[in-house]
Amino acid sequence: MARKTILIDCDPGQDDAVMLLLAFGARDELDILGITTVAGNVPLAKTQRNARIICELGGVTDIPVFAGCDRPMMRHLVTAEHVHGREGIDGTAIYDPTLPLQTQHAVDFIVDALMKAADDSITLVPTGPLTNIGMAIVREPRILPKIREIVLMGGAMREGGNTTPSAEFNIYVDPHAANIVFRCGRPIVVMPLDVTHQVITTGARVESFANIGNVTGNAVKAMMEFYNRFDEDKYGTDGGPLHDPCTIAYLLAPDLFSGKAVNVTVETQSELTMGATVTDFWRVTERGHNATWIHGVNADGFFDLLNQRIARLP
Ligand code: RIB
Ligand code: CA
Repeated sequence: MARKTILIDCDPGQDDAVMLLLAFGARDELDILGITTVAGNVPLAKTQRNARIICELGGVTDIPVFAGCDRPMMRHLVTAEHVHGREGIDGTAIYDPTLPLQTQHAVDFIVDALMKAADDSITLVPTGPLTNIGMAIVREPRILPKIREIVLMGGAMREGGNTTPSAEFNIYVDPHAANIVFRCGRPIVVMPLDVTHQVITTGARVESFANIGNVTGNAVKAMMEFYNRFDEDKYGTDGGPLHDPCTIAYLLAPDLFSGKAVNVTVETQSELTMGATVTDFWRVTERGHNATWIHGVNADGFFDLLNQRIARLP
């Protein structure tokens, strides 16, 4: 089967890191055009560095890494060091990576890569605030027909918000960019907290990463041990939700997931509910479908896939 051509936009973050490693373990199925980074979990200077660190951890030297927007389109940047640590991928070694950062701005790379592509050929995989994607759409709307689909991590409905009572972090940080993306007219698959809260990295699953027996598995274990502590305290669970790898897992094994065509509209006016993903799950409005809302997952199958692909790395 032909490889899917994808472009990853992220804000590493330990869960973004595991998402990248899953993608690196599936390059027989995924043609990764580039990795763009955005301010989110930690400031841009760290997310772009962290993406390059994870490339080196995964033994990847041939995928270009770009830095994008260092703040949301309209609002002040909100970061999440309290979750991810001061460096963003705390738990693994932090250093100045050898892998170079590309000099081109991420938004320009996204536009250029899409403008060169055939219609319906590129899948965008954003797992941070949607600033780079929103800016690319505004800068060059002609990229839209090139996008096959957007598989994003963000939003929440039944789970409630994780940053405010009504908003999930990625959407909350840049609701205006999210609004542009959800109105862009291209197929969108949403991995909200409603599904990511079903893939919990329990102690046994953390140990399974170490049992892989490679450097990458050990690094994932160490990052998860750091990353889990916040959500374990917050939710009283054994482990925390592994949000971002759900996007890549969906591309590799869509049958692990179940979802529904819905309308998602993003709140950009009210400070009380800023960044809420108002999801019409039961067709109580005339708003047209603009997204597939993923709400179910085979969690054991997800972690089996994750372990299998991480085992392919150094
Ligand atoms: O709300 C979870 C999302 O926000 C994840 O993508 C995490 O990495 C942070 O970016
Ligand atoms: Ca993220």
